[in-house]
Amino acid sequence: MSDRIRLDGRVAVVTGAAGVIGSATMRLLAARGARIVAVDRLQRDIEVAILDLPPSAQGLAVAADVTSEDDVAAYVRAAVDKFGTIDVFYNNAGVEGEIRPITKYSLQAFRKVIDVNVVGVFLGLKHVLPVMLKQNRGSIINTASIAGLIGSPEIAAYTASKHAVIGLTKSAAVECSGTAVRVNCVCPGLIESRMLSAILEGRNPGKAPVASEKILERIPARRLGQASEVASIVAFLASDEATYVSGSSYTIDGGRVAS
Ligand SMILES: NC(=O)c1ccc[n+]([C@@H]2O[C@H](COP(=O)([O-])OP(=O)(O)OC[C@H]3O[C@@H](n4cnc5c(N)ncnc54)[C@H](O)[C@@H]3O)[C@@H](O)[C@H]2O)c1
Repeated sequence: MSDRIRLDGRVAVVTGAAGVIGSATMRLLAARGARIVAVDRLQRDIEVAILDLPPSAQGLAVAADVTSEDDVAAYVRAAVDKFGTIDVFYNNAGVEGEIRPITKYSLQAFRKVIDVNVVGVFLGLKHVLPVMLKQNRGSIINTASIAGLIGSPEIAAYTASKHAVIGLTKSAAVECSGTAVRVNCVCPGLIESRMLSAILEGRNPGKAPVASEKILERIPARRLGQASEVASIVAFLASDEATYVSGSSYTIDGGRVAS
């Protein structure tokens, strides 16, 4: 019997590939046999991120700003030119934005978060879906967050943007009706990362140890998550183990939202 979790020869495009979750996921997809197109803002960061990929990944680094439609069209073109298709799309680039209450949040900062986290995800869907629909096959995984499921103080723009990602995911899944193109999203909780540290530090400058008792007591698993634990679920959704899964939001949060 073939191993349906394997991704041998599949072409996977990963945005935010130089970041904590994107790079962990890219490495796991590559370890399962995928060929990799790594997308992030700066060429030098992506070049470093793809350094330890296995030769079978044939890693291609493409610098792009996900808020620019020209850049998004260009990374999709680069993937198709090099590998002929896209089988897996991890639509993951995101920013946390400013950490402050709504009353003190600048309009410019609010728009910036929506631009990267919502417009960036929308543009990725807009340009990757035609490639997948043409071949009637593919799996897209967007990165939302548990901030897409519940409210959080001082990150209203981020929270709004991640609620929007879940809505985009559901709409895209429905628009793919009758095809073998699936669209899902993951909702990571508190993952040990630069972004989590930035949010906690922004809320409590100089005061909040990242894994403080107060934070951990609200998580049934009593620990922070690891980027590799997000990667596992993305790789599952990318694979043929998940052929009947579409329009779903997977929480990876140690039970935080359930508690
Ligand atoms: N870290 C967490 O605890 C956590 C929890 C839930 C959801 N998430 C989400 O997971 C995703 C990855 O987060 P992370 O923790 O790896 O953060 P990160 O900051 O390490 O990685 C994000 C990456 O996105 C890239 N990026 C940002 N703006 C971009 C743009 N305009 N164009 C291209 N690339 C851009 C950054 O350069 C960076 O490499 C994000 O969507 C984030 O919102 C993170």
